Amino acid sequence: MITDLSEEKIIQSWNKNSAPWVQSVRENRIESRVLVTNQAIVEAVVSVAREQVLDLGCGEGWLSRELIKRKLSVMGVDAVPELIEKARLSGSSRFEVMSYEDIANKKLELTFDTLVCNFSLLGKKSVEDLFQAVPELLNPGGYFIVQTIHPVFGGGTEDYTDGWRKGSWKGFAEGFTDPAPWYFRTLSSWFELFRQSGLEVIEIQEPVNPVTKMAASVIFISRVGAEFTGYEIDQ
Ligand SMILES: C[S@@+](CC[C@H](N)C(=O)[O-])C[C@H]1O[C@@H](n2cnc3c(N)ncnc32)[C@H](O)[C@@H]1O
Repeated sequence: MITDLSEEKIIQSWNKNSAPWVQSVRENRIESRVLVTNQAIVEAVVSVAREQVLDLGCGEGWLSRELIKRKLSVMGVDAVPELIEKARLSGSSRFEVMSYEDIANKKLELTFDTLVCNFSLLGKKSVEDLFQAVPELLNPGGYFIVQTIHPVFGGGTEDYTDGWRKGSWKGFAEGFTDPAPWYFRTLSSWFELFRQSGLEVIEIQEPVNPVTKMAASVIFISRVGAEFTGYEIDQ
């Protein structure tokens, strides 16, 4: 049974699996990333980004490195110290160990033009709390971009309803252990999550895997909605 400890299990699992994850990403072993989703998220960010980008749940830092090559200034944060250590060793961005819970508790006292999450939103409450913090992390006119598993094509055979799902490393190389549960959201629930956080989804992209011809992911591009009144106005 999946319990309230699921959020903790997510971080525990990434701490345990950081070494095989780094190897899989750096040796291009995840086919859908190589074929479609890596390029899709880079293009989505570059299409709106001005200068300062925050890569939330940055892992070993590949996206930050790609964005730096495109002349953006990037900071990456992740809850897993070993991943941040790898990221620091391989890129010139600023990388910090920081969880979404830390960010929700306002420990990151900076603002950015673009925030990006690439397959890094896995929990329930941790994600809801992070979304609530997003408007205040964004500079006026900024964007929040999320790439995640497509709820229709990536949800498996279970009922199409929100809820915790059992994790799996099926299709990954050897060396991965203890997959963490993840929280499934339907497409309408993702929209509602943005809306409830004062964010307006202005574009949705569905990158297609050229081999399977199915959507490999969904990308939401959002910005702070008209109803948000949280900015402090300098007098
Ligand atoms: C599938 S990996 C994606 C990493 C990276 N964005 C990429 O594209 O390679 C998910 C990442 O989310 C991070 N993560 C999950 N929950 C987190 C939380 N509550 N706070 C910070 N990072 C978290 C994990 O540590 C892991 O690095």
